[in-house]
Amino acid sequence: MDMLRDADVDPAPLDGKRVAIVGYGNQGRAQALNLKDSGIDVVVALRGGSGSMVEAESAGLQTALLDDAVSSADVAMMLAPDEVHAALYREIEPHLREGAALGFSHGLSVRFGLVTPRSDLDVFLLAPKGPGTALRSLYQQGKGMIGVWAVEQDATGNAQAIALAYGRAIGCARAGLIASSFAEEAEADLFNEQAVVWGGVPELLIAGFETLVEGGVSPELAYLECVGELHLIAELIEARGIAGMKEVISNTAELGALLGGKRIVDDGVRRRMAEVLAEVRAGRFAEALGNEEASGYARLEEARRKARSTLLEATYQRLKGGA
Ligand SMILES: NC(=O)c1ccc[n+]([C@@H]2O[C@H](COP(=O)([O-])OP(=O)(O)OC[C@H]3O[C@@H](n4cnc5c(N)ncnc54)[C@H](OP(=O)(O)O)[C@@H]3O)[C@@H](O)[C@H]2O)c1
Repeated sequence: MDMLRDADVDPAPLDGKRVAIVGYGNQGRAQALNLKDSGIDVVVALRGGSGSMVEAESAGLQTALLDDAVSSADVAMMLAPDEVHAALYREIEPHLREGAALGFSHGLSVRFGLVTPRSDLDVFLLAPKGPGTALRSLYQQGKGMIGVWAVEQDATGNAQAIALAYGRAIGCARAGLIASSFAEEAEADLFNEQAVVWGGVPELLIAGFETLVEGGVSPELAYLECVGELHLIAELIEARGIAGMKEVISNTAELGALLGGKRIVDDGVRRRMAEVLAEVRAGRFAEALGNEEASGYARLEEARRKARSTLLEATYQRLKGGA
């Protein structure tokens, strides 16, 4: 797989072009500021009454209402939450210029049919592989965050060049741009969120904490063992890879990991992971996300409330000196 870096990417396709960043949240803020610092003409596109207008303007960015911003732009980047993309695209579509480029930072809404872009548009993906806060801070340090790019629709013949130049301008090509497709990026990202880093790992930490507490260990020690050490392994894996991480931990920890790891993550876990992937590909998660938005995020609100009232959370607060 080719990994493109700054020297491989021509910035010229964005010369003299105006980019509308639709939404000023986690990704919108970071991408708008990185583009501006890379010398790109940026306008932040916001809905009427948006609380983000003052914040964006005080960061030195131009802002405009959705229709004005989009109609003045050569590239419109969809950086509002995925679950509002369908309605938002319907709203902005009449204002998108003929032959403009429409960009996404996640493949979900195109892969699962929430958005079917007009046929005259170039449609590209530039998905930084991490949160906007880190995308911005890395850029400010002269570094970058790996980004995944793809072209779904090449109406003008320039879609790939614009995607790559965009990835360079937000700093991702400093770390590397990896080619993919909307489908591959969306499916892999949704799978990871459910089964691995954001779904699987926290549940493993909680289960470990509760097992130790039920076994008579103090909540504080259980927390330090099962949750508090996570950043240590994350840093080691980031710096050395998984094999390298194992080489620098004690023989005790390494043998424990060898004996215990595959006992916990057994064939049953792998079978359920495969089920998650199949469900993601069948569009079940995209459907659930739409239902969640339609319900006013009832399930998410309830889960957030419950997570705040656990022994694990109270222990975290005590250890942090917050309670
Ligand atoms: N979070 C990440 O770091 C991350 C990482 C990689 C990819 N992505 C992708 O990046 C995209 C943006 O995600 P995000 O987490 O950055 O979103 P976010 O922070 O939740 O986006 C918030 C922004 O979207 C605007 N917005 C919300 N609903 C809107 C509507 N109906 N009409 C117009 N604007 C609306 C908000 O407007 P107001 O200011 O008016 O409230 C706000 O400016 C998604 O496709 C996501 O999958 C995100």
